[in-house]
Amino acid sequence: MTAPLEMRRVRKTYGEGPAAVHALAGADLTVAAGEMVAVMGPSGSGKSTLLAIAGSLEEPTEGEVLIEGTGLAGLSRDERARLRRRHIGYVFQDFNLLPGLTAVENITMPLELDGMRHRRARGAGLAALEELGLADRADSFPDELSGGQRQRVALARALVGDRRLLLADEPTGALDSRTGEDVMRLIRTACHGGAAAVLVTHDAQLASWADRVVFVRDGEIVDATSPLAGPESLLAGGTPGDSGEAR
Ligand SMILES: Nc1ncnc2c1ncn2[C@@H]1O[C@H](COP(=O)(O)OP(=O)(O)OP(=O)(O)O)[C@@H](O)[C@H]1O
Ligand SMILES: [Mg+2]
Repeated sequence: MTAPLEMRRVRKTYGEGPAAVHALAGADLTVAAGEMVAVMGPSGSGKSTLLAIAGSLEEPTEGEVLIEGTGLAGLSRDERARLRRRHIGYVFQDFNLLPGLTAVENITMPLELDGMRHRRARGAGLAALEELGLADRADSFPDELSGGQRQRVALARALVGDRRLLLADEPTGALDSRTGEDVMRLIRTACHGGAAAVLVTHDAQLASWADRVVFVRDGEIVDATSPLAGPESLLAGGTPGDSGEAR
């Protein structure tokens, strides 16, 4: 069976010459349908870059990315955009809500861009907000919402529709621990429905919701473990400077 996400020997270099930053230095990651993978690692190690390339928001400098077996490099810009809208849900580290659209409009925009009728899209958007306990804020604009509420709107936008791959960059960053657990439960449920999920988190407790934890250091995926082995053991394994990032 083809995997929702396959990354092979992916490298990403920003800039050139002596100023070049090797954000990814040959990362391999395959995520199966129904699988939830947590990505941990120190600040600047390449986690967001890994997710942006998996979601075809950025192109790798070298290496291959396949979504459901289709190589992104072989697609036109439009084909990539369509695949992204239809099959990939993305929660950005800074939420990335459009300020001129209400909560529910932010959620339904990708569906409507993809041709879904307004009423049906709105119904799906309201249902997603309901699930996240935000039904009463559907018509609020992002600047009328708290950080945690914005984060849940961003998550609803990523979950709505028929997503095969959910990519979430610290989806629980601004949330208290109980709401954080709720978010993990929702992602888990999406995986039970057959979607694959990759989420970045600094929180070992939340990472333990995943089937598998991978650890990024200096642009490489250096270790993989099941949560039973305990992501704490990886962190305790020595990541200089990481303690300062704990949230
Ligand atoms: N657009 C860019 N231009 C230049 N360098 C970049 C760019 N984006 C990221 N980088 C660099 O690439 C490296 C990896 O960044 P990335 O954002 O992937 O780290 P991260 O693991 O997500 O960190 P954090 O935990 O702080 O979010 C860093 O050194 C960063 O400064
Ligand atoms: Mg990041």
